[in-house]
Amino acid sequence: MSTPISYDPALLVAQAKALIEDERDPIANAANVAALIFGSLDRLNWAGFYFMRGGELVLGPFQGKTACTRIGVGKGACGTAAAEARSLIVPDVDEFPGHIACDSASRSELVVPLIRDGVVFGVIDCDSPDLARFGDPERSLIEAVAHHYVAGSDAL
Ligand code: SME
Repeated sequence: MSTPISYDPALLVAQAKALIEDERDPIANAANVAALIFGSLDRLNWAGFYFMRGGELVLGPFQGKTACTRIGVGKGACGTAAAEARSLIVPDVDEFPGHIACDSASRSELVVPLIRDGVVFGVIDCDSPDLARFGDPERSLIEAVAHHYVAGSDAL
């Protein structure tokens, strides 16, 4: 039995679009998107951005506990999603080789790459204290939010 969704995905995507509509600053928009995701999805302990800087992912705006500031491409869930330019669902972080534990409360994770002109320039990362918190509905949702973020924000 799948877990019921406690938020309205269409509303969340519409809110993300509206938030971004009048602003093109990539940091301001990332800050608001992180707050929107963290405040909308239940059972999250972290939601935020990492941006590609000098060949590695560097922490951007987020909500949750303090996090690792730098992640190598190909390392951890975030670095793997960035290296492979595809969304990654980690149902159990203990089963993911090389998982980087920023908050020991995290049990599952969803990472969505941010891609402009075919180049990955960052990721959106969502962490949950519950196992298998993220599935296809959440992946599609965060991918839609990421799409609006990329389209509505200037390049970093
Ligand atoms: N767990 C991530 C690191 C980032 S934090 O969870 C915020 C990873 O393995 O890439």
